[in-house]
Amino acid sequence: MKPEEVVEQVKASGIRGRGGAGFPTGQKWSFLAPAMPRYLVVNADESEPGTFKDRIIMEYDPHQLIEGIVMSCFAIKAERAFIYIRGEYYFGYTRLVEAIKEAKAKGFLGKGIFGTEMNLEIVVHRGAGAYECGEETAQLSSLEGYRGHPRMKPPFPAVEGLYSKPTIVNNVESIANVTQVMRHGVQWYRGFGTEKSPGMRIFCLSGNVKYPGLYELPHATPLREILFTYGGGPVNDEAPFKAVVPGGLSMKMLSADQLDTPMDYEAVAAAGSSLGSAGVIAIDAAQSMVTIARRTLGFYREESCGKCTPCREGTGWLEKILIRIEEGDGREQDVDLLNHITKFIAGKSFCPFGEAAVWGLQSNLAKFRPEFITFIEETNPDQRIPALPIRPIYRPDTGEPSSLTVSAIELVGESPLNRDTLVEIAHLIDIVPDPGNA
Ligand SMILES: Cc1cc2nc3c(=O)[nH]c(=O)nc-3n(C[C@H](O)[C@H](O)[C@H](O)COP(=O)(O)O)c2cc1C
Ligand code: SF4
Repeated sequence: MKPEEVVEQVKASGIRGRGGAGFPTGQKWSFLAPAMPRYLVVNADESEPGTFKDRIIMEYDPHQLIEGIVMSCFAIKAERAFIYIRGEYYFGYTRLVEAIKEAKAKGFLGKGIFGTEMNLEIVVHRGAGAYECGEETAQLSSLEGYRGHPRMKPPFPAVEGLYSKPTIVNNVESIANVTQVMRHGVQWYRGFGTEKSPGMRIFCLSGNVKYPGLYELPHATPLREILFTYGGGPVNDEAPFKAVVPGGLSMKMLSADQLDTPMDYEAVAAAGSSLGSAGVIAIDAAQSMVTIARRTLGFYREESCGKCTPCREGTGWLEKILIRIEEGDGREQDVDLLNHITKFIAGKSFCPFGEAAVWGLQSNLAKFRPEFITFIEETNPDQRIPALPIRPIYRPDTGEPSSLTVSAIELVGESPLNRDTLVEIAHLIDIVPDPGNA
């Protein structure tokens, strides 16, 4: 078989990328610019909360991945592949390194593989623990030794990627699927799933189910079947499911009336979310949606790479407001304020992390607004206005913090400018924008 024929097989199989976006793998390969050398980068960063499938492939079936890498590199004419593995996956890393040694000893890797002209080396690179380094261009920056910041697209990696050379970035599971297609054929592969979402899928089931774990099932398996038949239903029979995140924490939530959604790209999109990395997180009625929102934003604030302002600042603002609500200082208009801020992050940030950071919150507010309002009414029945600390003013003449009570300036009435004085900003309470005008 020639390299072009392998590309055609992968195209015909309809494999869709398992890293999140679901882009057709064969189509991506056909975008490669003609320049040489070319590289394959296997994205094994797997930092999306609720996603743990690549880990198991690397730990318990690393040769499936290595076979896929050999065939993918043959197809795209690459002589060097990189596996960028999440730093915390130390066991997976050692397994990969051993498996690569075994493959090399048997002649599957190295120079002139089995007497052909094909050469291939695999480099395993451990990340240092940054969610953003899962984003393909940030991953390339990190691999090159730079800070894990994303790059402008275009040019896309297939045209100008690692070391400015044409590069294919594919998820671990996507490459493992190449092995299955080449072993069993296109027809076999397409025998599972749907026309547009073919093949099997590893669903990562976590949250409030009896049996969390990995379940490899055909695309379009109903969400209810995953949760009840395989997951055993809610962990506490008295607390039914109230929400499910279908594709990793970054994706929008589905509500309890959407449990019959078939888990394929098209059906989940029609339900208002995305299949993403197939990280299914079940949330039961005993959980507080306010707490879930606060913890989620804590993660994105922490992981924002800081390159662009809307994401770097906005995620922190959202977290602070959610902490304030949780601590009993929330007011009803905070719900609209949160929603308003998300609109200045999604679609206005440098990379898709911006959307990832706020989609969950947007869907949470849209579907569970009454729960937020009830929480606020119960914890702050008087709708108390939060007190704001005033920073001390430093006197330019002495460099000491001033205290207006001992200042030579004559005070006219009461001043709030004493050191660390807490004031109520009654005149600012209407600054919350009207969401209708947003
Ligand atoms: C913030 C962010 C984090 C990501 N993390 C991962 C990841 O951990 N693993 C992964 O395969 N793709 C991740 N992606 C998607 C990659 O950018 C890229 O689309 C993917 O690796 C391409 O492979 P695929 O076509 O096989 O899915 C992430 C994207 C973003 C925006
Ligand atoms: S959206 Fe901006 S700050 Fe956030 S991760 Fe991407 S580049 Fe970094």
